[in-house]
Amino acid sequence: MIDPNSLIRRLGVDPVALLLSNTLMGKLYDRSVRVVLAFALTLAVSAACVSDLGSVAYKPLVSPVQRCMNLSGALEGPSEGEWGYTVRMSDIDKIADAGFDTIRLPVRWSAHAGKSGRYELDSDMLARTDEIIDYALAKDMNVILNVHHYYQIHHNPSKHERRLEGIWNQLAAHYAAYPDTLIFEVLNEPHTKMTVERTDALNKRIVANIRKTQTDRWILLATAEWGSLPGLIESQPPQDPRIMLSWHYYDPFSFTHQGAEFFKPTPPIGAQWGNEDDLARMTADFRAAAAFRDTHGMPLLLGEFGVFDAASVEERVKWISTVRHLSEANQFGWCHWGFSSNFQAYDPEKEAWIEPIRAALLGD
Ligand code: GLC
Repeated sequence: MIDPNSLIRRLGVDPVALLLSNTLMGKLYDRSVRVVLAFALTLAVSAACVSDLGSVAYKPLVSPVQRCMNLSGALEGPSEGEWGYTVRMSDIDKIADAGFDTIRLPVRWSAHAGKSGRYELDSDMLARTDEIIDYALAKDMNVILNVHHYYQIHHNPSKHERRLEGIWNQLAAHYAAYPDTLIFEVLNEPHTKMTVERTDALNKRIVANIRKTQTDRWILLATAEWGSLPGLIESQPPQDPRIMLSWHYYDPFSFTHQGAEFFKPTPPIGAQWGNEDDLARMTADFRAAAAFRDTHGMPLLLGEFGVFDAASVEERVKWISTVRHLSEANQFGWCHWGFSSNFQAYDPEKEAWIEPIRAALLGD
């Protein structure tokens, strides 16, 4: 029998309040009380398992990142603005004022670095990232700076790994004096030929290079297989007190990417999510991620999760809210994908948060 108070302590949330607020907030579980009860039961079982693991290996893990927003679709494009979004400093104000503690800044450095020699980074691009980072840090936010959309490395690592190391040598030197609220993320979603082994080895080399000049910098490591759970649990991360691991969650893909034309074949619009099986599967995934985290003793960040805009807001809210609460129950920081480009939380035409999405991320 699970004692509700100890359950609340272990989860860090009251599952009943959580369910109630979900129900009121977005009419999430309007279909049936059965689903709500199934979810409560699943969370309770999940909490019990977290605790079982805890008695063996778990020690409290402190991640500097709790609630984060991806500033997606701007510097990750071939050039900023090409995908319709240019970062405005007022966006950072809005994100900070809403209650997020971190922005993740995806940057396509491979489009702004030389092809040989020291792979010199474009000074204009560095000045632009400085501007965004300086602004966010001055607002007491953390910034995660990454290398995003380096397509070539995933298909031809033997040609491109050295270039990624060169890019990081320069970024590490450029930002060496920055406070440790600037976090480096080595490579977004390694995949294809960036296998688990190859990603582990590359991560180790780049961490060692960064550590030559900065021992306190948090380094975020994405794992292979697109940062997914299977890639995460096979990885062998280097031991270091200031490494965080990252995973991304978009399951079921046919639900989260419905209508996403950038993916072929595009999953059809209309998929729904939230039955008992869906909840059980998601809860088991989060439990597996937490078990891996507990074994390795380093913080785990859910670096991306979100639902494409073609799904109804109600469906998006249901999934996003559940992922967010499961993350927090398992003590993962999280980072929503995205802000106002696609997978929107903010409507750039109305210049306003999409209120149900904001509430799903930051409400009770
Ligand atoms: C990954 C991709 C990004 C995409 C997102 C959702 O981060 O790099 O471009 O929008 O996943 O599919």
